[in-house]
Amino acid sequence: MIIKKKINRFTVFVKDDGEKYIEIFNNFLNNSLKVLKVFRNIDDTRVVLIDTAYGKFILKVFHPRVKNTERFLKSMVKGDYYENLFYQTHRVRQEGFDALNDFYLLAEIKTLRYVHTYIMLIEYIEGVELADMAEIGPEVKEKLHQSILSLHRHGMVSGDPHKGNFILQGDKIRIIDLSGKRPSRQRMAKDRLDLERHYGIENSTKDLGFWLLIYKKKLRNFLRRLKGKNVR
Ligand SMILES: Nc1ncnc2c1ncn2[C@@H]1O[C@H](COP(=O)(O)OP(=O)(O)O)[C@@H](O)[C@H]1O
Ligand SMILES: [Mg+2]
Repeated sequence: MIIKKKINRFTVFVKDDGEKYIEIFNNFLNNSLKVLKVFRNIDDTRVVLIDTAYGKFILKVFHPRVKNTERFLKSMVKGDYYENLFYQTHRVRQEGFDALNDFYLLAEIKTLRYVHTYIMLIEYIEGVELADMAEIGPEVKEKLHQSILSLHRHGMVSGDPHKGNFILQGDKIRIIDLSGKRPSRQRMAKDRLDLERHYGIENSTKDLGFWLLIYKKKLRNFLRRLKGKNVR
């Protein structure tokens, strides 16, 4: 079960046996975490590897800054992607699908339903990022393909299945950086088309989601041309 509690200004989501994750979060608040490696440090996102009394974890801090008004209005109608991701991750892992990284704790500062800051404590996956592999062989591609199709069957989408969001752990493919968005047919079709674009994995399912996506793109390009902009 997942519990929700207040810690300082944060709303915190954690599994009910998650005292150790709360302790790590408190260490974050006290600035006493030991950072081993910084993976990403750009204006709105910081992703670091930390060492704790309970082992290594990934800590991701996200301050959404872009398009604030738009995000604010969207959050009013759409809800919270990371909160969804937290619950979805818990659900599909319980269903036995564990290719995606585990998600131990989510903390957020909210005004109404708008989130200013997200802190995420995530499973550290030790392995080789696909982006760092010289060549991705057919076996790995097949595993990658199956992992995304299974993810879809379990009612989740990746949203961004490029080479930086998969890690080969031993001989197992792991998926990181998921979106938590609703798994519409169109988003599933987009994942499949992204696999085709990034890895040459052919999309063999041309369903309604696929055609909606294709025609939306055509319409967008058409409108751009009308406005006299360059079409990518
Ligand atoms: N669970 C994880 N295990 C190992 N490395 C990770 C994990 N999560 C993130 N990373 C590393 O940090 C990088 C950035 O994290 P990611 O969640 O993909 O953030 P972004 O949204 O900026 O793409 C990844 O490409 C990977 O190198
Ligand atoms: Mg990423």
